[in-house]
Amino acid sequence: MKEINIALLGFGNVGRALLRQLEKIGEAQDPKINLRAIADSSGALMIHTPELVNVLLTHKEAGRTIKAFAPAAFLAHPADILKAFQREHIHCIVESLPTNIRDGQPALDWLTAALSQGLNVVTVDKGVMVHGFDALQQAAASGNSRLAFTGTTGVAIPDELADDQVVEIRGVLNGTTNYILTAMQEQRLSFNEALGMAQRDGIAEPDPSLDVEGWDTACKILILANALMKADAKLAEVSRLGISDATQSLIDNGRTTNRVVRLVGRARLWQGRVRVSVAPKLLDKDSPFYALSGTAKAAVFRTAERGEFFSYARSGRDAISQIILDDVRSVVGSQ
Ligand SMILES: NC(=O)c1ccc[n+]([C@@H]2O[C@H](COP(=O)([O-])OP(=O)(O)OC[C@H]3O[C@@H](n4cnc5c(N)ncnc54)[C@H](OP(=O)(O)O)[C@@H]3O)[C@@H](O)[C@H]2O)c1
Repeated sequence: MKEINIALLGFGNVGRALLRQLEKIGEAQDPKINLRAIADSSGALMIHTPELVNVLLTHKEAGRTIKAFAPAAFLAHPADILKAFQREHIHCIVESLPTNIRDGQPALDWLTAALSQGLNVVTVDKGVMVHGFDALQQAAASGNSRLAFTGTTGVAIPDELADDQVVEIRGVLNGTTNYILTAMQEQRLSFNEALGMAQRDGIAEPDPSLDVEGWDTACKILILANALMKADAKLAEVSRLGISDATQSLIDNGRTTNRVVRLVGRARLWQGRVRVSVAPKLLDKDSPFYALSGTAKAAVFRTAERGEFFSYARSGRDAISQIILDDVRSVVGSQ
């Protein structure tokens, strides 16, 4: 395939960053990815005039809606939008709606309908994968479509895992908590000082609870466990301990024993079931996560036959856009 047509479902930080990345790489793409539709919470617009995209970007960055941009041409209803995506030969939808860790909606309904109608999907939305993994797989099977979700965990799944059984996954999967823990250990800041610094640096959210309470790590390790270990586990079943000022005593312990503290998500086979947990752990020098400081993330996959495979997550400003583009090419290219 020479060209791939995509639709952006969600045009916030991630959607706009992807658009800027596409502009930056311009013609230097193989295959070329064309933006053919954009949807926000007001509705969707099919893009027939590529020159309009930059005007739409400026309009959105001013905090306005797609409906206000093109009141006569926009589509409001999901069923009409999906029909238009098919009519316009969209090869892949890129979904970046706000994540909803309670039930995955409204993205779950969108993606189930899209996949079952034969539309491929790349998602970066953890909520939909945590709550709808099986439903989405079934929808993809019935629609003969494909789903990719590397952006939900940030960690690329090594190809070698395909012909082996994964028996354990461990990961430092949240950059914000790793940044805070690094500052507590290397700069000897208190938890609150390190959190404040992370917020000032634009790394932690004003409300940091999803990160520091371990929810983000719990979602990511659960997605990996469901995808690779058929865990069939729910978010409520994940044993979860985040980081707080109480983590200081673990850090003090690490200082006297030459170990470091990282927030580790873990999924392992135990007594015939996959157990999933998140907790700050003391790690010694031979741990693959010992040197993983700042916002760096990585995972280790242990298999029954072939040992362990290590995978770094990409980091940096363009990381999520690069991950999405790779997923789009992989999903469309493998059909
Ligand atoms: N930011 C990152 O670096 C990053 C990295 C990995 C994953 N993620 C995930 O990416 C997703 C998006 O993050 P973001 O920072 O781009 O969020 P955001 O800035 O809040 O953007 C969300 C977009 O979704 C649109 N939207 C909301 N409800 C909708 C609906 N019912 N139908 C259609 N569109 C709807 C919003 O419309 P309006 O514009 O009209 O409000 C907005 O355009 C989240 O799930 C996040 O967890 C983000």
